[in-house]
Amino acid sequence: MINYKKEIAKSIYKIINIPQKELENYIEIPPNRDMGDFSFPCFKLAKELKKSPISIAEKICSKITVNNEIFDKIENSSGYLNFYINYNLLIKEVLNEIYEKGENYGESDLGAGQLIAIEFSSPNIAKPFHIGHLRNTVIGAALYNLYKFLGYEVIRLNHLGDYGTQFGKLIEGYKRWGEEYSLKEDPINDLLDIYVRINELCKKDETILDLCREDFKLLEQGDKYCVDLWKRFRELSLEEFNKIYKILNIEFDSLRGEAECAKDVDAIINTLEEKGIVFLSEGAKIVDLEDKNLGVCMLQKSNGSSTYATRDLSAINYRAKTYNFDKCIYVVGSEQSLHFKQVFEVAKFLDIPENCKNGLKHIAYGMVRLTTGKMSTREGTVIKVEDLLNESISRVKDIMIEKNPNIENMEENAEKIGIGAVKFNNLCTTLIKDQVFDWNTVLNFNGETRTIYSVYLCKNK
Ligand code: ARG
Repeated sequence: MINYKKEIAKSIYKIINIPQKELENYIEIPPNRDMGDFSFPCFKLAKELKKSPISIAEKICSKITVNNEIFDKIENSSGYLNFYINYNLLIKEVLNEIYEKGENYGESDLGAGQLIAIEFSSPNIAKPFHIGHLRNTVIGAALYNLYKFLGYEVIRLNHLGDYGTQFGKLIEGYKRWGEEYSLKEDPINDLLDIYVRINELCKKDETILDLCREDFKLLEQGDKYCVDLWKRFRELSLEEFNKIYKILNIEFDSLRGEAECAKDVDAIINTLEEKGIVFLSEGAKIVDLEDKNLGVCMLQKSNGSSTYATRDLSAINYRAKTYNFDKCIYVVGSEQSLHFKQVFEVAKFLDIPENCKNGLKHIAYGMVRLTTGKMSTREGTVIKVEDLLNESISRVKDIMIEKNPNIENMEENAEKIGIGAVKFNNLCTTLIKDQVFDWNTVLNFNGETRTIYSVYLCKNK
């Protein structure tokens, strides 16, 4: 491939005697193509050459000789030299390279020697894996593929939501109605049902909420009944999640969830207390981040329970010590942006390497909404991924039967295309935009999805 920056620097070097590497570093990519594909700001040389940027630009422009196939034109625009690429040549080069390298096109060793931890999916156990999680999971897996392709060592983390007051609610609900449920055919649905019921009860009666909190406290203290129940909920949930990951062909290197993180929270709080940043506020332990406009980060509730934020700090500490990552990327919905800003700010005070402190990054994506409003696990208005994938596969099959009834391996192809369409739909929209879930868009095989479908069929001929 042509190295455009190098070519530009080489030809400018022939006119003015400044090291080629230095010239190369000055080259910019303008914000829009009207200003060229590459631009050389001559004012960078003004001091050294003791001339005005405009006269430098004029001189270079009148003398420059680049291999004239590479650029369509070179323009002098008030002290900037703008270079316009010959696209025909570029297209030819790119297509040739794709043809030569095939599936390895784009692969590089850009990330060699660097480790990236990507946290994605991270569903809450005992709740259905819905289309919001799907968006997250598909985005995270795509990032994994990209980084891997660029030569980074990549660790896939699934920070399971297996802790928190909601488990107090589930335990309380199970105590009341557990016998009504088999937890066999559709365990997550059973658990969801219990969760919705106990929430309704909590709304009506505050004292029930206190009981739930008490159950959570017992769980934290290692009470056998609560822990055994929690373990069962976790295992049943994982079985269900694994089914979906298998369908999506997505794997994780670690499933270390919030519960594991909860074990270290005291040590984390101690460290932060030693740094003198922890204050008591109405019995709760907090870090005041008002001066950064980030409100207050709660480390421990007034009843002594750990918080979501502290469990995240504990996760950062563990990951830094286990992987010494250069980057730790969090694929999590944009509604948690403030949470991550707070946590990353407080993490600066942990005893972990600087590269880890500086490498924390939240990749936020927009919410998936239903045409009828927001999805809510509590209200029971979620679309389950398994249903979505099955529906997608079945609709693809209907289209095949209609348009190409004699196609070979119909089942297998319908499955791959149906799942591919759903993945594609999750990746083709702007990340941060909310997404309104609509069957007709997801399974619209007339737009770009159709291109994917055609590519797939060509590849699998
Ligand atoms: N389990 C959380 C949820 O479903 C997401 C976890 C995000 N990751 C994190 N490190 N806090 O909302």
